[in-house]
Amino acid sequence: MIVAIDGPAGSGKSAIARMVGENTGFTYINSGLFYRALTRKVLDHGHDPADREAVLSVAEHSTLDWKDNAVYLDGRPVSEALLRTDEVDRHVAQVSSFPQLRELVNTALRKSAQKQDSVVEGRDITTVVFPDAEVKIYLDAGIEARAERRYRENTSGLTLEDLKAAIAERDRLDRDKQQGRLRVSEDAVYLDTSDLTIDTVYDTVMETIRLKR
Ligand code: DC
Repeated sequence: MIVAIDGPAGSGKSAIARMVGENTGFTYINSGLFYRALTRKVLDHGHDPADREAVLSVAEHSTLDWKDNAVYLDGRPVSEALLRTDEVDRHVAQVSSFPQLRELVNTALRKSAQKQDSVVEGRDITTVVFPDAEVKIYLDAGIEARAERRYRENTSGLTLEDLKAAIAERDRLDRDKQQGRLRVSEDAVYLDTSDLTIDTVYDTVMETIRLKR
């Protein structure tokens, strides 16, 4: 079974998908980390993230996999600490905007998820990567709530105001993508989590899964 969860940055999808994975035994796959790993590699090689040729060449010469709760790039696990930085945040929307790169990531995601029951989260999981997923959820939240959540995570050096601006810019890029843009699938369960506790969101998602099983 595939449980697909989409939503913007800070909507709570990673936390919820992780909880669902832990409590159902489904493998939890975070697709954003695939894009972040490629972004990290592009930056480490000194390329401009907007240089299409360079970015695609990096992607074509990379292998991506998901094992033991981590993304593997070129056969090695990449720690989340290296991928959740302000620098990667700034460039990941640009890197993930190239359709050919998205195809490579989508193939890697499908391969990783087909091995076992999985809960996969991202932006286009319900619409493009797994359009036939048995369970589809869209988690939303207002920009204020999302910026505050990121701020409380304490992984950014930005002020709350700057975080809000950075998230708004990433939203804009995510929604304007040629391919894989963030949108609500017609058959997804839509939840605005702005004023909901994580336990309420979790209970609703688990109930949706129970009904489908
Ligand atoms: O979920 P996240 O914030 O870690 O994702 C990082 C970036 O990757 C985000 O700006 C958009 C992109 N992304 C995407 O384009 N498609 C996905 N399925 C997941 C993430």
